Amino acid sequence: MKTGWYKDAVFYQIYPRSFCDSNGDGVGDIRGIISKLDYLKDLGVNAVWLSPVYKTPNDDNGYDISDYRDINPEFGTLDDWKEMIAGMHERGIKLVMDLVVNHTSDEHAWFQESKKSKDNPYRDYYIWRKGRGKDGKRPPNNWSSRFVGPAWDYDETTGEWYLHLFSKKQPDLNWDNPKVRQEVIDICNYWFELGVDGFRCDVITYISKVAGLPNGKWNPVMCGDEHFVLGPNIHEYLNQVNQNAWSKYDTMIVGEAIGCKYVDAPSIIAESRNELDSAITFELMEVDMWMNFFPLKLNLPKFKAVQRGWQNLPKECWNTLYYENHDQPRSITRYGNGYGIYRKELGKMLAVSYFMLRGTPYVYEGQEIGMTNIALKQEEYVDIMATRIFTIIGKVAPFLMPIAHWAMSKRARDHARTPMQWEDKTGAGFTTGKPWMKINRNLGEINVKNDLANPNSILNFYKKLIAFRKGNEVIRDGEFIEYFEKHRKIYCYERNLNGHRYIVICNFAEKNVSLNVDKIPNAQDAELIIHNWEGQQQKLGVSIRLRPYEAVVYEIK
Ligand code: NOJ
Repeated sequence: MKTGWYKDAVFYQIYPRSFCDSNGDGVGDIRGIISKLDYLKDLGVNAVWLSPVYKTPNDDNGYDISDYRDINPEFGTLDDWKEMIAGMHERGIKLVMDLVVNHTSDEHAWFQESKKSKDNPYRDYYIWRKGRGKDGKRPPNNWSSRFVGPAWDYDETTGEWYLHLFSKKQPDLNWDNPKVRQEVIDICNYWFELGVDGFRCDVITYISKVAGLPNGKWNPVMCGDEHFVLGPNIHEYLNQVNQNAWSKYDTMIVGEAIGCKYVDAPSIIAESRNELDSAITFELMEVDMWMNFFPLKLNLPKFKAVQRGWQNLPKECWNTLYYENHDQPRSITRYGNGYGIYRKELGKMLAVSYFMLRGTPYVYEGQEIGMTNIALKQEEYVDIMATRIFTIIGKVAPFLMPIAHWAMSKRARDHARTPMQWEDKTGAGFTTGKPWMKINRNLGEINVKNDLANPNSILNFYKKLIAFRKGNEVIRDGEFIEYFEKHRKIYCYERNLNGHRYIVICNFAEKNVSLNVDKIPNAQDAELIIHNWEGQQQKLGVSIRLRPYEAVVYEIK
């Protein structure tokens, strides 16, 4: 059934809460998305990844689902959703939904049943264990939640603990139970029947835990990883869902592959394995981040080495290319001088640097206009990750608070979740009410309306790049060859299909950099086809001088 349509797709990720609010309650919604479908079509994207819109108590903004078959009333109704998907399909846009099945919400009916008694039919849908110690009041093992603190919570009713690798309101499902796997298959088929084109599978690399749940090597934030990242039965489980749901329709299944390095990737994404079609890697995000939230200085040679590893995977593996999503800070602030004088050049350079690689590129809402991180006071952070970090550090090591503040000002997930800046007016054209989260003060300069009107805007540059990629076989299938691998400021690579070549050179520094390009074969025949600086452009001769954040693409035929 599969055509591999995603290999020619450019994705746009919508975080519905922050995208567009149609009814003035301050929260983005499905009718808001419907009102922006022409915008997406005009941008040129042909697929959307929609973060969760299912029923949820919102402990983790929808990544805690209490009903997999219904829509969060804050976002609208199933009828609104049907209108939305029809509108997307009319415009040639595929819809990929988030599938969060490593865990549910603790308010899901399965968990409500499961906690009632040890012999409840739903007990084994989750992972329950006795505690350690004489009175069983210590958690069953030392694993930590990815939101900091122990990964277990005690439940009085039955005197046992349940596992939650995220918040205590997100109990982990027990995938070793065949009934759970059948539920997942049924959920997928339910949405496929309604027309969904695929799923982005949340933390799918965590679903299989080592039997006996042994203690992990000590680590304050990520303890236990070695016992559940790509765990013992993951291939069997993915294969089963693939056979009974994912491969029965023309879908794309991309897994959030937390903890999966490029060396492991073929085991879950190679076509012949019949598991996932592609993986959203964290490896690139970890180059300048320690323990999930602590910022490190970008080391470009390391960053390039990780990209290279993924680019050089066997041909039957397909990449997911991204710099931003709802969990990551804004790339323009992360990889460069954010809201500086070269913001536009920087935003465009970053776009070029990953759009020319092999794989499917994703653009996260607001990235196409160069939205930046936001300055927040402690009480203005709303995401569970930042607020828990502040609470826990405040309790156990208050002297570390300044460091926690600094880390969150760079890495909190809140930066990606500020409302979309559509226009320069109160509410940013996002809402007519009080926004659920603070809007960035720079909306006067950074907004869609401005960018649409300016031919040299980041938005119009994205449009050109997206159009350029469409149907471009060199970008889709060409070989990847890298130059200046060790260079600390320049990212330079070639894509080559049967002698049709693109040479991509990106300056990641905010200063001029001169480069001797005599290593690049036939550079003197190259014709400049894409550039991000206005004004006079240069030929690619023996050497080239790149301006701050300059990006150039040359073609050789
Ligand atoms: C990954 C999601 O992207 C993130 O937002 C969420 O908090 C965790 N998985 C838990 O579902």
